[in-house]
Amino acid sequence: MLHVAAQIEETAAAVRRHWAAAPAVGVILGSGLGGLAELIDAEAVIDYADLPRWPKTTALGHAGKLVCGRLRGKPVVAFQGRFHLYEGHCAEAAGSPVRLLKALGGSVLVVSNAAGGLNPQYSAGDVMAIDDHINLMFKNPLIGVNDDALGPRFPDMSCPYDRQLQERAMAIATGSGLTLHRGVYVGVLGPNYETRAEYRMLRRLGGDAVGMSTVPEVIVAQHAGVRVLGLSTIANVGSPDAPEETSGHDVLAVAAAAADKLAAIVGGIVEQL
Ligand code: HPA
Repeated sequence: MLHVAAQIEETAAAVRRHWAAAPAVGVILGSGLGGLAELIDAEAVIDYADLPRWPKTTALGHAGKLVCGRLRGKPVVAFQGRFHLYEGHCAEAAGSPVRLLKALGGSVLVVSNAAGGLNPQYSAGDVMAIDDHINLMFKNPLIGVNDDALGPRFPDMSCPYDRQLQERAMAIATGSGLTLHRGVYVGVLGPNYETRAEYRMLRRLGGDAVGMSTVPEVIVAQHAGVRVLGLSTIANVGSPDAPEETSGHDVLAVAAAAADKLAAIVGGIVEQL
């Protein structure tokens, strides 16, 4: 089996044949947020299926394309589709977009997702900057022999979400008249949404939002020395005492409706890099 670094280099070489720039930022587009890629003046759009040594995406609302181009004049790559553990991907595969971004020369990642709100002050359609996370996936993308060339064996996790990017996002939101919460994201395996008792427990554990992605990507980013801004769109509210049914299609629709807010923040961040 090929070493991770060699595999990623093969994928990166294939991307470079279509697009030679070094991305100032990589954006992972979460459920219902794929439309953000339309803001990019695309110079190359590559199907995941055409990338060597690259996992396949099967998730609802994830197109499975790498969009390379310019956003507010800056070179960016957008991952229209990520790899969830609930699809059967291992945690290491979930981190592949971050490894690819790094191999292409990028060192800033904006990671977005649709999440369930746990904080009772949140409403569907709100956006939250991720300040910290709790890994309840019980999986880790760094399991196995460590490649010291990629990052340290025991990465620090005291501040995986970059303070400066977070402060800038807050300022951009304020300047655009948007409310941007700041909170703790709990990563779970899925694919089912939570029971009432689970929503209650996750809130008590310190979570403000819960979702089925992002955590493995952020662990890999921290390992690789990539700065992260995490943004969650609150697609539904998990209120244990007034339960409402949740479906994947509802989550996509709410996330898509809130995509303009995310676009304003991501655009502002890229412009300031
Ligand atoms: N739970 C977990 N993941 C989610 C949710 C939720 O309520 N909403 C969107 N993704």
